[in-house]
Amino acid sequence: MTLDPTQPPPDPLAAATHPDPYPYYRELARGRPFHRDAMLMLWVAAGPAEVAAVLSHPACRVRPPGQPVPPPLAQSPAGTLFARLIRMNDGQGHAPLKTVLQRQLATLDLNEVRAAASAWARRLPVTRDHAATANRWSSALPVIAIAGWLGLTAADDETTASRIAAQIASFAAAMSPLAGPAEIAAGIEAAVSLQRLPLCDGTPWALALREQARAAGVDDEAIAANLLGLMVQSCEATAGLIGNTLLWLAHDAAAADDLRAAVARVLRADPPIHNTRRFMAEDARVCGVPLRRGDAILVLLAAAATADGTPANAPAPAPAPAPDNPAEHHWTFGHGAHRCPGDALAATLAEATVSALLARGIEPAALARAYRYRPSLNARIPHFL
Ligand code: HEM
Repeated sequence: MTLDPTQPPPDPLAAATHPDPYPYYRELARGRPFHRDAMLMLWVAAGPAEVAAVLSHPACRVRPPGQPVPPPLAQSPAGTLFARLIRMNDGQGHAPLKTVLQRQLATLDLNEVRAAASAWARRLPVTRDHAATANRWSSALPVIAIAGWLGLTAADDETTASRIAAQIASFAAAMSPLAGPAEIAAGIEAAVSLQRLPLCDGTPWALALREQARAAGVDDEAIAANLLGLMVQSCEATAGLIGNTLLWLAHDAAAADDLRAAVARVLRADPPIHNTRRFMAEDARVCGVPLRRGDAILVLLAAAATADGTPANAPAPAPAPAPDNPAEHHWTFGHGAHRCPGDALAATLAEATVSALLARGIEPAALARAYRYRPSLNARIPHFL
């Protein structure tokens, strides 16, 4: 569906792919920071304090009660993989691995990641169809770089790396509520192959991650699933960040002189992830409203970002950004227990990919002449035509 840029989005789910949803988000954040959308049958958190409160509330969980896996994936290899991901789980069982992942991701040498991504970029082909090239690299390069980093493919095996990137994209697409039967079947097939991937040596960083996880009592299946999970989490969101940065450069060519700053600006002003959801595990008051077990809340990260300043009463403020962390604190990476641990990695991969595309002659202004957003209820990912 093409949305009219002169009209506000019809509802908060359509906003993620609207040409300019930000005035609408600002109005929601200021005027209706926590409300019920009767048509969508969802509670909607839009103000920064409300978004932070929901994402920190102990009764607000990442999955609906009694439904650990989306029904279309249940009883399938894709469902098995989904159920092992820390992103999709609350509770103490996943805490040890989560701690190891967070700690290891915080120690990543971003210069080394940038160099590895640039080395892959030099090998990827540029065709005469620049739009197709930009689409392909935006999705594939971050995943390929992470796969190499983790030891899921040898550093010079472009064929395996590209196949893994395609399978990760299929699995990620199958997790979407918009996935049809063909996408779900492809995602299940991809999950089978991904779970059979043998591990190569990878970097010392990846070996340390595996050793620390084993020492913390995490079994190998959970470790392997969550290594795949890093790529799944990276896939669509980082593609959106890359595409939105290319669009930004189309209107501000000088921003290419400092790509790191441009990416940081886009994370704030035109972010790739616009919302996430939470589900009530029990009856409880949230933002002063009594909610019932099973109620669903749409958490509008992109609306919170339009409100000025940091939330005054955020229960768990994010730690101060490290000086070399280009991602700083951005709402698009979430908040609270499930906040994205890959923020700095994502910003670095986006910067490396955009830099590589520009170096190979891709012109943002030409790309911006024809594009649409990929159909999505939560992500803003340009597809260049
Ligand atoms: C621009 C790119 C990215 C964006 C906007 C993004 C955004 C997010 C958001 C919003 C969440 C929290 C979801 C929720 O609370 O419901 C999340 C979780 C997560 N992200 Fe990212 N992400 C990005 C890239 C990455 C990358 C590159 C990695 C790889 C390391 C990654 C790994 C994760 C993981 C493992 C989680 C789950 C954390 C947990 O549940 O404890 N993300 N991401």
